[in-house]
Amino acid sequence: MALFISFEGGEGSGKSTQAQLLEERLRRLGAPVVSVHEPGTTHLGLYLRKWLKQGRPFDSELAEFLLFASARAELVSQIVQPSLNQGTIVLADRFSDSSVAYQGYGRGLPIKLIDEINTEATGGITPDITFLLDCPPKVGLTRVGASFQLKLFDSPGSAKPVRESEGTRFEQEPIHFHENVRSGFRILAEKAPERWRVVDATLQAGEISDIVWEDVEAALGRPAEENGHGPRNGILPGISTQSALHAHTV
Ligand code: TYD
Repeated sequence: MALFISFEGGEGSGKSTQAQLLEERLRRLGAPVVSVHEPGTTHLGLYLRKWLKQGRPFDSELAEFLLFASARAELVSQIVQPSLNQGTIVLADRFSDSSVAYQGYGRGLPIKLIDEINTEATGGITPDITFLLDCPPKVGLTRVGASFQLKLFDSPGSAKPVRESEGTRFEQEPIHFHENVRSGFRILAEKAPERWRVVDATLQAGEISDIVWEDVEAALGRPAEENGHGPRNGILPGISTQSALHAHTV
């Protein structure tokens, strides 16, 4: 059964760990699964990832977004769409929603523009389930760099966290940028509760993995015919299990 699941969240929210844990659980069941990571996975995505890891700046916020969108278009045409067509479960560590949160709510590009270009880049593919791993930015940023001098967050005029090792330029953005990204994700989740599951990312990884699994199992156990909507985006529809959302929304 084809199913498209994405993981979203701010820096250090634990998305990659959860995507990996879910992949392991699905493989144990013998389910066909492929994992992708944005930016990454394709040649273009890996090139963009390397660029970001070098902390190289973009003069234009639009250029930054268009690069993410280009890499996404490659990813969809090379891996996501063909995999879904074959009935494979696709796990995405970030997808279109990251651009809305980071380039839209974070950088201030018009959301409408991002939505339109995302739709072109993805051919309209939307995940069936999106897990938002939600936590305060200070918690996530601390996780990604133990050498962050957190006191800097609170002192006026020195809003940029400092770390010794090189992160992406996003990790080095001021705290209010990360707060805007977090609010952006939460707004998206509120607007489409049938797709989003908001999970408290400050919980232990094992607990989060169980919450995620509960929802995915329910989705897998529910044949498409039951809800009578027919295929959505070429994949099976009707993933509307709300239990985890209500139990764990933060
Ligand atoms: P990465 O190290 O992969 O971060 P993470 O492990 O948290 O995903 O770096 C990717 C960075 O790119 C991350 O800071 C979020 C950012 N990003 C955007 O700004 N827009 C996007 O559309 C995507 C996919 C990522």
